[in-house]
Order: sequence, then C-alpha cells, then structure tokens
Amino acid sequence: MPGQILEARGIRKVYATGGRSLEVLKGIDLDLARGEIVAVTGPSGVGKSTLLHILGLLDRPTEGRLTLDGVDILGLGPEEAAGFRNRRIGFVFQFHHLLSEFTALENVAMPLLIARVGEREALDRGRALLARVGMTHREGHLPGELSGGEMQRVAVARAIIANPDVVLADEPSGNLDSGNKAELHDLIRDLAREMGQAFVIVTHDTDLALRADREVRMADGKVAEVKTRPIQS
Ligand SMILES: Nc1ncnc2c1ncn2[C@@H]1O[C@H](COP(=O)(O)OP(=O)(O)O)[C@@H](O)[C@H]1O
Ligand SMILES: [Mg+2]
Repeated sequence: MPGQILEARGIRKVYATGGRSLEVLKGIDLDLARGEIVAVTGPSGVGKSTLLHILGLLDRPTEGRLTLDGVDILGLGPEEAAGFRNRRIGFVFQFHHLLSEFTALENVAMPLLIARVGEREALDRGRALLARVGMTHREGHLPGELSGGEMQRVAVARAIIANPDVVLADEPSGNLDSGNKAELHDLIRDLAREMGQAFVIVTHDTDLALRADREVRMADGKVAEVKTRPIQS
C-alpha cells in the first residue's frame, strides 16, 4: 500500500518459562502509514510492550512477517538489523533511559553523534530541537536535574532527532501528572504532523488514545478492536 511505512502480519510470540510455554501474541496484524499516530491499548500483561519490542527489532517474534519501508526486516542479519534500527526507528520509554552523565543537549544530540554526524552539527541540531520542544532553558541540565515532564520532552527530542521513519513509545506519559501529560501528547501530535514521522504509542491513557489517528485495542493476544478517528487539526 502506498504511504505505508510499517506492516506487521501474523505476529506470534511464545515465551518458554519454567518448562511451560506462554503464547502472549496470537497473530497480530498492524499497519502504520507515514505520519500516522497509532495508539496501542489494552490491559496490563496483554503483550503491548512485547509487540513494541518486536516492531522495534529489540526482540524477535516466534512467527510472523514485518516490513519497514518495504524491507523484510526479520530477514536481516543482526548487524544489518542494528543499523536499520538506529537509522529508522526511535524509542521513547516510560522510564526515560536518558544517560545520566550527559546534559539534556548531549542526550538529544547522541543519536547524531553515534551516526557520526560532526559534533558541531549534532549540537546545533540538538539545540534547535530542544528549542522546538520548549527546553532551551534546560540545555545544560543533567537528567537528574529535570522534572518528569521535562525528561520526557528530552526523550522525545532524542527519539526524533535522527529523523527516523517510526517512533515507538511505551507508556511515555505513564508517570506524568495530567498537565504534563496533555502537553506531552500535544507535542507528540504536533511533531508527528510537522516531521512526517509515524508513532506507535502504547498507552493506558484514554486521553492520549483519543488524540491518536487510530486506536488498536488488544485483548487475549489479539487485536480486539480498531477505532479510526476523523482527521484532527
Ligand atoms: N521475557 C519474558 N519471558 C517470559 N514471559 C514474559 C517475558 N516478557 C514478558 N512476558 C510475559 O508476557 C506477558 C505480556 O507482557 P508485556 O508485553 O510486558 O505486557 P504489557 O506491556 O501489555 O503489560 C506478561 O504475562 C509477561 O509476564
Ligand atoms: Mg508494558
């Protein structure tokens, strides 16, 4: 399909633990268009994080197919897969995973430095993006010196700076109060629109799910319901 960036088909995941096997994902299909925001919802333990890790090439499914921009990414070797992940996919997690010894600016610029963009350009682009997320006044702060909402803005900036096709976010607003939550949701939506990046956001938050273009609700290892919203301004 044109405009499609990510396509998952028949994703199954079976964990073997303590001699027993647990089928967490029982055949999930998911499509994501460029610039689209999809919210993945469902009760705790239903397999949302497992699915996100599989979509992000952090874990492999037991069975299924996955294409990113038309490339069969499960067919790649480990090194190619890692390169693909670094260039094409950004991550935002609930507990930040910002590097505690580096400033907000350095954290945001890190993906560019890893991609061997020169330091000066990396820091310039980092500054510009920090300004875009309203964090210029905290450039030189360490993560431990930021509030939860500020850390998540830095994490979002870091996830998108290298211009990935897809950003995967696992409960990004999970530990924020309602004011910070609303701001983060608006920021994610605006950035997706401006930069054309697609987002898959796992959330418990009905409010965030309501702002997505589509909500995919999981139950019992399957997609139980898909709700498509009208285009929002
Ligand atoms: N590495 C693992 N080994 C065994 N079981 C796991 C592993 N990771 C997750 N699970 C189990 O898979 C199920 C889904 O977990 P998860 O994807 O984290 O759910 P969610 O994010 O929806 O809360 C849970 O029952 C969890 O205990
Ligand atoms: Mg989870």
